[in-house]
Amino acid sequence: MKSIKQVKNIKGKVVLVRVDFNVPIKDGKIEDPFRIKKALPTIDFLHKKGAKIILITHLGKDGSASLEPVIKSFFKISKYKKSEISFFENVRKFPGEEKNDPTFTRKLASLGDVYVNDAFSVSHRAHASVVGIPKYLPSYAGFQLEAEIKNLSKALNPKHPFLFILGGAKFSTKMPLIKKYLKLADYCFIGGALLNDFLKAKGYEVGKSLIDNSNYGIEKILKNKKLILPVDVVVKSSGKLINKGVTEVLKDEIILDIGSESIKMIEPYIKKSKLILWNGPLGKYEAGGGGATKKVLKFVAKSKAESIIGGGDTVELISEMKMEKDFSFVSTGGGATLDFLANGTLPGIKALENSKK
Ligand code: 3PG
Repeated sequence: MKSIKQVKNIKGKVVLVRVDFNVPIKDGKIEDPFRIKKALPTIDFLHKKGAKIILITHLGKDGSASLEPVIKSFFKISKYKKSEISFFENVRKFPGEEKNDPTFTRKLASLGDVYVNDAFSVSHRAHASVVGIPKYLPSYAGFQLEAEIKNLSKALNPKHPFLFILGGAKFSTKMPLIKKYLKLADYCFIGGALLNDFLKAKGYEVGKSLIDNSNYGIEKILKNKKLILPVDVVVKSSGKLINKGVTEVLKDEIILDIGSESIKMIEPYIKKSKLILWNGPLGKYEAGGGGATKKVLKFVAKSKAESIIGGGDTVELISEMKMEKDFSFVSTGGGATLDFLANGTLPGIKALENSKK
């Protein structure tokens, strides 16, 4: 894979930069411009070298969203003039994007002379603007893509003691990751909705909590000594939040977070670790839980361990707490981070490696 640092003679050339400005938006306002900020070093580098930059991004799942709020936020943050940087339309508007259709890809590629991928967080998608264009144009990895690979790779060849913290939902998609890190890490701490599946498999009542139910193989995982499960949880019971033991949840309650004893329980593991990898929140903060994630993030921030944090919701929280600098690396990826940690590569990375141009 060629690095953007190797780009030569691009003065006056058109560079197509795939960025991922798929950022959280509420009522037309960007809630967290983290991904936009992280693409700036690549854009600045190319701009200084005299390239004509066209940014390509998707926004939302189906391409119906207007890029307007994103474009506005980009120019406000970057301080570029509108005449200096161009935006392609929301690329998912075109059916050929997700299909990686060769005709669409060729049209996209014909807009530029050089391609740069600085969109790690969408590099798990085999879409035209991610894996297609490198077949037609000289292609390079941007600074953020390189930083993601470099930092996330530390978890694949870890220092020990190594603590893996996994939260969020979707047990079935995280199963390969749990299996892999039970081998690579020294301790695996589970929180978030994932925990509900473990508690259910242990035969405990989980009330109306979110469950994946496709947890094939969980019994074997439960026997692994590296697995650390919370001992208490915060439940919503008749509109109130109550801290209780994991065996005490009632039929009409919903588990929203890990409990106070579990927060204390994880602290010594954080203190003794040299590497901490964390993906996904420990509780559902939109629903009133989630306090545990903030507390545990503060422990990690204070620790001497190298800390690598990923997952959209966790990262949004870190931005809100203005704590990005307290961690060694904060990933821009959600699903892409999980896939990279599970497989050590992504389709977008392979496309750059295979680019003949
Ligand atoms: C993300 O937010 O994880 C990326 O932008 C990818 O978006 P997608 O899940 O819609 O492909």
